[in-house]
This record gives sequence, C-alpha cells and structure tokens, in this order.
Amino acid sequence: MASQRKFFVGGNWKMNGTKSSIDGIVKFLNESCVDDKVEVVVAPPAIYLDYTRQAVNKKIGVAAQNCYKVASGAFTGDNSTAMIKDVGCEWVILGHSERRNVFGESDELVGEKVKHALEAGLQVIPCIGEKLEEREAGKTEEVVYRQMKAIIGNVTDWSRVVIAYEPVWAIGTGKTATPEQAQEVHDKLRKWLSANVTADVANSVRIIYGGSVSAGNCKDLGTKPDIDGFLVGGASLKPDFITIVKARS
Ligand code: 13P
Repeated sequence: MASQRKFFVGGNWKMNGTKSSIDGIVKFLNESCVDDKVEVVVAPPAIYLDYTRQAVNKKIGVAAQNCYKVASGAFTGDNSTAMIKDVGCEWVILGHSERRNVFGESDELVGEKVKHALEAGLQVIPCIGEKLEEREAGKTEEVVYRQMKAIIGNVTDWSRVVIAYEPVWAIGTGKTATPEQAQEVHDKLRKWLSANVTADVANSVRIIYGGSVSAGNCKDLGTKPDIDGFLVGGASLKPDFITIVKARS
C-alpha cells in the first residue's frame, strides 16, 4: 500500500545557472511542475534565490543550498536564515555531501545548522549518505546512523524536515543506487528513527533519495514504499525534471 506521505521532488541546481538559463527552467517548472499531489522545491544558488522566488509559481518551494548557524554577524561569504526568509524562500538544504566533503562540514556543524534553521522558521532538508569506500567496507549503516544522530537531537519540529539519503558514490556519477539498494537504506533509517525518535516520526517523515536520479530511473525508484521522492542534481536543470516530478503520476 502506498504511504500517506506526500511525494517530494527537490531540484538542487548546485553552482549552476545564469539569469537567462534560470528563465528557461522557470518556464518549464511553471508550465509543467505545479501539481497538488507532489511537493516540488528548487534550490538555486544563493545569488539567484530572490530572482527565482519572484519568478517561480508560489506552489513550488524555493530552498537555499546552505546557510550559516547563527543569525548575523562577521561571517564573510555566508548567508543567514533571515536573508533566505527575507527574499521569500521557505527551505534550506543542509549537510549536502558537497558541503561535507568539499567544504569540510562536520556532523556537529550540520546539526547546529539544522537547529538554527528550524528555530528561524525554515523547513530543512538535511542530507546524509556514505562514501564508496564506506559502503564497500560494510559501513553504510554505521555512517548514516552517525550522521542522523547529529541531526535528531537538533530537530524541534519534524513536520518541517525532509531527510535526503544521497549515497556519495551515486552523486553526479551516473551510478544510481538500485531501487533495492535505496529502499534497503530508507527502510533501515525508518526503523532507526522509530527506535531513536518515535514511531510516529518514523512513519510520517519523508525520506527522499538523491544520486543520479534521471527521467529513465525515477519510476522504478519511485515505486519503492520507503522512497518518498528525490533530490535531483543534474537532471533538475533540464526538462527531464518534469518526468521526475511525475514519477508517481
Ligand atoms: P545528481 O543528480 O547530479 O547525481 O546530484 C544529486 C545531488 O547531489 C542532489 O542534491
């Protein structure tokens, strides 16, 4: 039986785009991705949050790709939750694997950011996922549980959280986790949440999959009972995103 959890599709544009290319994306989003059965959220680079929020249909959420853990101050180059809200955006992605692995963000920092963003009133998409060597060493569960542990104590309102499981080896590589591999981790995460938070949270929180999701593989992934949607990178810049938004339709 399909779950009651609303299907969620996020588009993480990463460090890509110009005003002109965003115009093209916004056009297909507004024409083809507004669907009451699917929650769609796009995450432009911070410079374009305002531009995108003004152009995209209000039924589509707009997320920052990151923010800092305090409200304001001497933090050159960073963006605050207040700024994200000031330009009308509702969401923030935190702890993306590129933030963790390229910019060195720790589990602890990701947890602090989750706490601050929720307190500031944003909805958050914390990301977790193991590296290839960790999977090959049989450490997938250990890694994702450790990452989750740093997050759960900082969550004050689970209704504003969507967890993204993104195995690092599947991001931008064209090497998608099989629907079975993704389902297995999502199921384990839900059981872990039941044991470590509450059964209610485990049952209601959406766990979305990210890592080389494409127009070609989204339907198979989307049939799995514990995969509640996707966080899409490369394919979110193209009309393929429409097919992914409609994966369950
Ligand atoms: P790709 O879809 O390009 O593999 O990126 C996934 C991702 O990191 C989304 O946040």
